[in-house]
Amino acid sequence: MEKRDILHYLENAPYALLMREAMQTLHQHKGKHVNVRALIEFSNICRRNCLYCGLRQANRAVRRYRLGMDDVLANARDAARQGADTIVLQSGEGAVDAGWLAELIGELCWDPGLPVTLSVGECAERDYALWKKAGAKRFLIRHETSNPALYAKLHPGYTLEDRLSCLRVLKDLGYECGGGFMVGLPGQTMETIADDLLLCESLKLDMAGIGPFLAQGGTPLSSEKSGGLEIALRALAILRLLLPDANLPATTALASLDPERGQILGLNAGANVLMPNFTPDQYGKHYKIYDGKKRVCLNDALHDIEVAGRCHALAVS
Ligand code: 5AD
Ligand code: SF4
Repeated sequence: MEKRDILHYLENAPYALLMREAMQTLHQHKGKHVNVRALIEFSNICRRNCLYCGLRQANRAVRRYRLGMDDVLANARDAARQGADTIVLQSGEGAVDAGWLAELIGELCWDPGLPVTLSVGECAERDYALWKKAGAKRFLIRHETSNPALYAKLHPGYTLEDRLSCLRVLKDLGYECGGGFMVGLPGQTMETIADDLLLCESLKLDMAGIGPFLAQGGTPLSSEKSGGLEIALRALAILRLLLPDANLPATTALASLDPERGQILGLNAGANVLMPNFTPDQYGKHYKIYDGKKRVCLNDALHDIEVAGRCHALAVS
């Protein structure tokens, strides 16, 4: 697909037509099954200051936490019993000791024995290698925006080039790689979104998360307008056309923008993954990336899969 075709799909093509094409591609390449990943936000400590994120280091209003290994293991085992197919460990950047995380990965690979996905930001190559050796299979690290100048503005002290080189290193180490970006960021244009989509394609991502930007109090972007639902769904559907075999989640950000329908619309736009939250309740409320973040639980996932007429492997009680 050329950039002008993508712009047409983003701006002018009838919504229903785009969704139909995305769903045809989904059914041909992935079938009706929805993969369910259990998300455990094991620490909200972060050394970065991304302008959009509530967990930025400078935000003193956040109560910081780090889960103990036993808490993570107990919740991961609970998720496995309920039929989750993967454990996703997410934290801010620089939150934990690399050796501790390697030990946790080893324990998770032993019991419950599900594939482990990491989402812990930019780290040293030796740490990525250590975690791979410990058994981690996949890594999520979104490029956030494909515009280098906008990237630098939103991420003080960091560059898009470094971000992309992390993705290359992870791929070379044998990880399945996940990327993605936000739609509706202040300063982003339709052209940027088209470039974001083309970047995901050229990176040959195995997974990609697309979510609307949501303004969060206590950040420099708190009074900006949040991204729109339709444009985020259009971007998701186009990504299904560009990466037919990728695993694409209906993101929590979609659910936060529209708690009733957001993820169902995501599934109907070509998504085939849901990521319900298995962070212990008393900690999860402090993992506040953006205002109104919905805590998507397993029952929500089950409900959405059924409403969307799709299949799952969850244990239904
Ligand atoms: N709105 C939407 N998504 C956000 N993220 C962080 N802050 C926001 C926000 N305000 C996303 C980023 C990050 C992922 C974990 O959450 O894309 O990679
Ligand atoms: Fe930290 Fe991630 Fe938030 Fe950036 S988006 S401040 S890296 S938690």
